[in-house]
Amino acid sequence: MKIDVYYTPLGLNSGDLTGRAVVVIDVLRASSTIVTALAAGAKAIVPAASSEEAVRLTSNLEKNGIVLAGERRSLKIEGFGLGNSPREMTPESVGGKTLFLATTNGTPALLSAQGGDPVLVGAALNFSAVAERARGLFAQRGELVIICAGREKQFALEDAYTAGRLIKAVKKGIPPKKLTLNDAAQVSLDLAAQQGGWQDALAASDAARQLNEVGLGEDVRFCANPDRVAVVPIYADRRITA
Ligand code: MLT
Repeated sequence: MKIDVYYTPLGLNSGDLTGRAVVVIDVLRASSTIVTALAAGAKAIVPAASSEEAVRLTSNLEKNGIVLAGERRSLKIEGFGLGNSPREMTPESVGGKTLFLATTNGTPALLSAQGGDPVLVGAALNFSAVAERARGLFAQRGELVIICAGREKQFALEDAYTAGRLIKAVKKGIPPKKLTLNDAAQVSLDLAAQQGGWQDALAASDAARQLNEVGLGEDVRFCANPDRVAVVPIYADRRITA
């Protein structure tokens, strides 16, 4: 039984994930935003590679029921209805709507996971729910892939920590000699054992520093709350639904 972690989606080629069970993680903040939006009643989220792509995807659509959302350098994109803060995702702002979301690392990571079956979206906010689903898939398939979105094409502490927590939950009850972890999976597991908990691990990250600098420190604390919701977002046919 094998668990592979990718710290960024860069090494993946199209077709690598076809038919494999995948969890995509971008805790600060795209995954947390997606989870919260669906919990608040959003109909679907369509990930876009860039803000231009999000605009292009919506250009021929009836504007009613659609919201453009996302960030550039953590801040809301001009002309977009929403940013990438999970705290913006309220029933009033997203209920019944389809969000077209463009973020720096999170939505490109999701796009790179296309072909996976299923592709789940993981965060602290939905941790136990996603871990339970991933555990069932791992038991059934004997394989799980975890893709961390990373930050500026590099390792991201908060995503690796979450990957480690997920591996710990998923491998429960499996004899160590039956389990194979790639190096990134092994290091994620070690990291999860070393860090003090969700709040400490997320606060120690580069992403948290950047969010603090632009006055979004509250988002870091919000995203570090485990198990606020039981939503397991699934990405299939170009859209993410609950
Ligand atoms: C990303 O996609 O890089 C993040 O979601 C950035 C952010 O937190 O705004």
